[in-house]
Parts: sequence; C-alpha cells; structure tokens
Amino acid sequence: MSRKFYITTPIYYVNARPHIGHAYTTIACDTIARRQRMLGADTFFLTGTDEHGQKIERAAQAAGKTPQELTNEVSAAFRSLWDRMGITYDDYIRTTEDRHKLRVQELFRRIRNNGYIYKGTYTGQYCVYDELYVDAVGPGADCPECGRPTETVHEENYFFKLSAFEDKLLRLYTDQPDFIRPETRRNEVMSFVRSGLRDLSISRSTFSWGILVPDDPKHVIYVWLDALANYITAIGFGSPDQADQQKFEKYWPADLQMIGKEIVRFHCVYWPAFLMAAGLALPHGIMAHGWLLFEENKMSKSRGNIVRAETILDVLGADALRYFLLREIVFGQDGSFSFDALVQRYNADLANGLGNLASRTLTMIARYFRSEVPYPSHTAARRPADDAIADLSRKTISECHTLFDQYQFSRALETAWGLVAAVDKYIVENEPWALGEKQDEESRARLGTVLYTSAEALRIVTALAHPVIPDSTTKIWAQLGLGETKKFPLSELKWGQLHLGTKLGNVQAVFPRADKTAIERMQKMEERDASAATEAQPAAGSASGGTFAAQVGGAPATSARSAVSSSDGKISIDDFAKIDLRVGQIRVAERVKGADKLLRLEVDIGTEVRQVVAGIAETYEPDSLIGRKVVIVANLAPRKLRGLESNGMIVAASPEGGKPVLCSFLEDVPMGTRLK
Ligand code: MSP
Repeated sequence: MSRKFYITTPIYYVNARPHIGHAYTTIACDTIARRQRMLGADTFFLTGTDEHGQKIERAAQAAGKTPQELTNEVSAAFRSLWDRMGITYDDYIRTTEDRHKLRVQELFRRIRNNGYIYKGTYTGQYCVYDELYVDAVGPGADCPECGRPTETVHEENYFFKLSAFEDKLLRLYTDQPDFIRPETRRNEVMSFVRSGLRDLSISRSTFSWGILVPDDPKHVIYVWLDALANYITAIGFGSPDQADQQKFEKYWPADLQMIGKEIVRFHCVYWPAFLMAAGLALPHGIMAHGWLLFEENKMSKSRGNIVRAETILDVLGADALRYFLLREIVFGQDGSFSFDALVQRYNADLANGLGNLASRTLTMIARYFRSEVPYPSHTAARRPADDAIADLSRKTISECHTLFDQYQFSRALETAWGLVAAVDKYIVENEPWALGEKQDEESRARLGTVLYTSAEALRIVTALAHPVIPDSTTKIWAQLGLGETKKFPLSELKWGQLHLGTKLGNVQAVFPRADKTAIERMQKMEERDASAATEAQPAAGSASGGTFAAQVGGAPATSARSAVSSSDGKISIDDFAKIDLRVGQIRVAERVKGADKLLRLEVDIGTEVRQVVAGIAETYEPDSLIGRKVVIVANLAPRKLRGLESNGMIVAASPEGGKPVLCSFLEDVPMGTRLK
C-alpha cells in the first residue's frame, strides 16, 4: 500500500475576497501536494473557508447582507480563484456545511464527556478582528496581537480546561521538535506555554452566527474551535457513516498543516490541546510561513495594500506567480511583493532562463535531427564538459530533493536554476548551431552529444520544477515527447532516462517575454479593481485624497457621479441620511511615501479601526493628530490612493487656495457617534 500524505491550508475568512497573501499559502501547499503525488504518496489536500463568528456576522451587516449570503459569495470567490489557478485540492470544506456542523458538535461532546469542559462566566476583553480572548488587560485596551481596540465581554460561557495541558504540550514540543517549524516559532510557543495557560472560553452567548453547543442552544461554539475542527471533520471525523470513518482512519493525523505565522498560537497550543482532550492523534507537523509584504507592510484587506492574484494571472499566468512567490521569498520569513520584482524574475528566470533553454534546445533537435532525440557519443566525440553537465544534474536532483523535503523552496529553485545556467553556458561554449552547419561525421556526433546533453538536463529541471510551475513544465514535457509530467515517478528521476529517438512534440515558446507595459497594465488593473468597488455604491461626495471638502466660498463638493440631487441642486433628507458621518479618533498617522499632501491614518470609529488616506499633510504634522477626534464619512466605498486603500473620508473645510482644516467639536463626543 502506498504511503499517505495529508496536507491542509488554513481555512480563510470570508469577510474579504482573496488576495495573493492567501494565494501564497495555497500555492505552497499545492506545490507540496503535487510533489507528494509525483513521489507516489496517496495525497489528500484540503482547503476551504471559515464562515462563522462575530467578525463575519458584522462584515455581513456592514455589507447589507445576511451572513449566509456573504459567506456564499466570498467562499465561491475563493474556490473559483483556486480553480482558475489549477490548485489541486481534494476537498473544499465550508464551516457552514451540515457535515461540518454535526461533526464539530460531536467533537464538543467528546471533549465534554472526557471532563475538559465546564460552565463559567467570562469577563474580559475580546478582539473581534482576531476572534481572540485577550488576557489580563483592562476595558478599552488594545489587542496585543493586532493593536485594534478590544471589546469587553461579560457572558456565561463554556470553558475548556486548557490549563490541564501545560505540561503535556511542553512535552510534545520537546519530544517532537518538528511539531512546530521553523524553530523561531517553536521557541515563541514554548515561552508562551511556559508563562502559564488559563482556561479558555469556548462558547459565546451574545450572538448567534455559529454552531450550536449540543444540548444548550443558547450558546454557539467559539469560532476557533469550530474552524480548527475542519481539519478532521472534512475527512470524516464524527460521521456515523462507515466510509467516512475509514477515510478518517486513513488520513488522520495530518502530515503537514501549513499556516501563516499570526495564527501559530491557535494551531500549536489550542489545537493540539483540543485533540488531546478528545483522545485524538496529533498532526505530525505545523509549518508557519512568514508574511507577504506590500509597500513594507503585511498585505491585508484592513490595510488596503492588497494585490489580487487575478491581475497577475491575466498578464503573466499562474506559473509566474507561483514561481515568484516560492523563489523570491525565503520560506518561513517575511518577503516583499512588487510588480517590478515579479516581472524581473519572470523575464530573467522563466522567459530568458528555462523558456530560452527549452526553445533553443528543442528547435535545434527539430532542425538538425528531424525532431528525434539524437544519440550522445560515448567515444571520440565526448568531452569533459558533457560529463560535467551529467554530474551536475545528478547533484541537482539529490540537492533539490533534500531542499524540497525541508520546504526550502527558494533554495531548491535556485539550485535547479543553477543547472539551467550551466547548460546555457555549455550551449554557448559548444556552439551547436556552428556544428549543425558542418556535415563531417565528427561534427555530427558532437552535435548529437551536445543536444542530447542539453535536452536531458532540460528534462531533469522540468521534472524537478513541475510541482512549482505545473502549466509550463507540462508543455515543455509534451514538447520533449514525454507524455504527462505529473505521472512521472519523481523518486526515480536520474540522468540518462531520455530515450534516443524520442519524437518531439510541437515546439512552441512557453514563456513570452514580458515587455515594459506589463507592470503598468497590472498596476492599472489593481487601480480599476479598487475603483470598481467605489462604483458599486452611491458616492457620498467628491474628494481629494480622502478629505470630504466642505468648500468655503466655492461650489458644494458633489460628485459628478452623484445621481441624488434634484434639478435645483438640492438633496432630500433621505439622500442626506445615506451618508454615514461618524466621530472617530485618530490612532495612527504617518506620511505616505512620495506624496507631499497625503497622510495615512488609522481612525477608530468605535466598532472598528479604519485606514483612511487623507490630503491633510500640508496642514498637520502626523504626531499632532494622534488622539484627535475627527468626523469621518464611514460608508464611502473604498478607493486606492498611492496603492493604499482608503476606507472612508475625513471631513475638512477647504478654503479656496488655502489648506484643509479638520472639522472638530468644542465638547467631547464619544467615538462612533453618528452625525445626523
Ligand atoms: N480563518 C482563520 C484561519 C482558521 S484555520 C483553522 C484565518 N483566516 S485568514 O483569512 O485571515 O487567513 C489567514 C491565512 O492566510 C494566514 O495564516 C496565511 O496563511 C494567509 N495569509 C493572509 N494574508 C497573508 C499575507 N499577507 N502573507 C502571508 N500569508 C497570508 O486566519
């Protein structure tokens, strides 16, 4: 029976559409899953969406939708992106599916029957953004994880006896050093657990968007217990069906659970404790990668600095994105995304590197050997340079296996591309095009050897790179006349397997060079994407740089798009009521690089913290604004300014020819108050 390999991504929240940060994790897992299949493992690759909890409930409210409507829409958007990218997931779990709900209730029952759940009262802080109970801070405090304001929760809840697992967890991390990778994350988790674990509230009773606690429907199960359970519910845990049970027996425990570094505590502390409490086996390993940064910050919806995968797929294709992310970023560390770097890598390594090697090698075999792989000389026409390529290929195979096994994608690809560079140099030095012009036997034998050597090295790189860039390597493999790459048994890859006389397929360029306009096109698409969201809702007014300018002595600032005004330019009270004006407090203010007039603000509006880009840098020093109360247009659709998403506008008076002045109050007004 073949070895099994079960791999999971985190299940993504459905409060926002996918961006390349989510794609990063999914691509890494897809690469591992594809490689495991090529190595012969019976592989199961799970992904899906996390759809319950207060955060989603509020996001739905804000979007004027029911939670189910929002989750259906966004979950479908994630799934169709993965389909478009050719992600080879075996199942896609949604936490609102009945199969999941019933099985989570079963997990809850097991933990309760084993004596690890009791009823109590929770009074403390809760961060809705992270869906996290925040220990030991007072009312109004900020979340230590994300810096957003926490909310005070006072509820009767069910508690999980997390404190009972302190020693067991520490023993786990010590006995199984690979349980958490990389090492830095393991150390963080160990010191967190050593500092003491408090029991964890695992139900909520003040909202209803969740899975009901069995036998006590006043409570819904804490969203992280619900979400983490997906890794077992999807493969059949808790199902009465025998086929499901067999599936669970077969695939659990997971071989690898991939996550981003911000959710380490949930996966490396809570998750193994829940499993131990239920008497279930623990995953073999959890790997936390770093963050994808854009314009120096973590790419995230709330920061508004996201890039859509679709943009890159449209212009350069999925393989370009996959290769870039895995080659450019040291897996486990943070790494930056930029369109410049993407296009540079694409042209250097794919168009000029692998693409060029494939097209020149295959074109010459087509031209000089009627599309049949030629015979490599073992005698007179052989040179040390030929053996050097064979030796390097052998070394590359073994090094790549080791590096891929350790999930060191960038080094594995660097090693494979070392072979591409060596073969390129070999071709230049051996001038097959010159040999091709000569008819003598010696030149012909030499030509056959050089082209065989190049084609064989090309085949090896193609096989090694297939899990990373499946579309283009499938094409090159077919051009080499070799059938389906994904069926190639990777563990058997060795030098000399390319048969003489193999008939080549149709030779075509695989990576067209990206010209200068590629970057511009992608940037424009991103800008359009942000403004498409703006068109979708009625505009609240025109603005420059996120300030809602009540112009003094000039025409009122109404949008050209605004269809609400009557012929005399007046609007009705209902029209005015559409504008959600609220009091907010500035928490963060900083200059926007390269823009003299713009400040990036984080404004707390009571229910959440908004990023707003405002054109007030000429009037105000960033530091002078911290703590200041301002008026914000809270229901303005987001727009992008200098690559930053602005979620709302600050109201200011803009005297003609003068600098904008912020609107403020003489009396103190609580944050979040509406202006009517
Ligand atoms: N729903 C939870 C996870 C529950 S798992 C039981 C969640 N969802 S999320 O939508 O916020 O997705 C988080 C994951 O998406 C990260 O852990 C990471 O895998 C990926 N990423 C999202 N943004 C990212 C970056 N900017 N950079 C790298 N990974 C990113 O947390």
